Amino acid sequence: MSDAWLERADQSLLGNYYPARLTLVRGEGCRAFDDAGRSFLDLIGGIAVNSLGHCHPAVVRAIREQCGTLMHVSNLYRNPWSVRLAEELAARVPGSRAFFCNSGAEANEAAIKLARRHAHFKCGASRHVVVSAEGSFHGRTFAALTATGQPKYREGFEPLVPGFRYVPFGDTVALEAAVGDDVCAVLLEPIQGESGVRVPPPGYLTAAADLCRRTGALLVLDEVQTGLGRTGTFLACEAEGVLPDVVTLSKSLGGGLPLGAMLARGEAAAAFVPGTHASTFGGNPVSCAAALAFLETLDSEKLLDRVRETGDWFMGELWELAARQPKIAGVRGRGLLVAVDLTVPAKAVALAAEERGYLVNAVQEQTLRFAPPFIVTRGELSDFLKIFSEILVSTPSAGA
Ligand SMILES: Cc1ncc(COP(=O)(O)O)c(C=O)c1O
Repeated sequence: MSDAWLERADQSLLGNYYPARLTLVRGEGCRAFDDAGRSFLDLIGGIAVNSLGHCHPAVVRAIREQCGTLMHVSNLYRNPWSVRLAEELAARVPGSRAFFCNSGAEANEAAIKLARRHAHFKCGASRHVVVSAEGSFHGRTFAALTATGQPKYREGFEPLVPGFRYVPFGDTVALEAAVGDDVCAVLLEPIQGESGVRVPPPGYLTAAADLCRRTGALLVLDEVQTGLGRTGTFLACEAEGVLPDVVTLSKSLGGGLPLGAMLARGEAAAAFVPGTHASTFGGNPVSCAAALAFLETLDSEKLLDRVRETGDWFMGELWELAARQPKIAGVRGRGLLVAVDLTVPAKAVALAAEERGYLVNAVQEQTLRFAPPFIVTRGELSDFLKIFSEILVSTPSAGA
């Protein structure tokens, strides 16, 4: 524990985050280093951000070069890097056009505004309801927070934004019942990340897409956490062959720099006209250059294949461990977005792992989340699994 930094952070930063035990000062590949020089295998990757690992040379090179060329111009002017990035994204999400911002919440905020405006001019203002799922997480700005189907995050911030409706995640019948002619958009994560990597039943996204097509609501998929290769396909919804009207991205996109994107396809894209939405830093040349390097590396290093192979193998190993270790109650996920349900407190396990040199995330009371860099090796994960097994043996059950 770095006491000096802890005390200074306590006094200088607002208290909205749980106090961290570690002060990290350097990163390289899959490893992060603290101020005492200790090395950690990073299995949460800055919450699914550092997908190429820390300081990937291609991203660092692109950022360095861009910083010496042009750093910021605003959207009063065009810059080639944001156009190139939008083109690269359209090559992967057919027919899409991009709005760039700085974070996942802003991307969702933009998507909600786009959906409202699209419906407003097509059908009138009464068609303004956004349907989202219980247990979802869409960010902390007001509309994204309102869409977030977890009351604990909304508490104390009321009144929230009007016009939101919630349905149980994965329940097609409930979704059908909730989408009336007042609904402008259905907003879903293909796999709910923050509530513990909850995978919906097969066919759920397809049913949502069909429903939206029938009713004229837009299907907005929040792929902030699942997108950009994390689950082994460029977008997680590709696993079901679904192409949404709108998709939001962030996290991995900037290769470690803050960057968000809202991609809109077809008629939905026309809802934003000059003056309807903006972000001063949106399409910032440095973030876009980093994102171009990220996408190029994703292809050149064939990382989608690697995510699928490593992810399948890792989940298989976790299931094998679960067969011998009753403190593992379940394993879920896809690609390198994986959760393990425990019968013991996840925080205690995460702290013990930290002591042994591994960064893992206690995403829920009894659930660990893993979102390692795509370049993590089987060897690194094997070493972790041995330590994880030992930690579970020595972690007392709740109430013991
Ligand atoms: C699915 C999803 N959407 C939106 C967000 C919010 O992103 P940000 O924290 O960049 O605003 C997150 C963050 O964890 C997320 O997982």
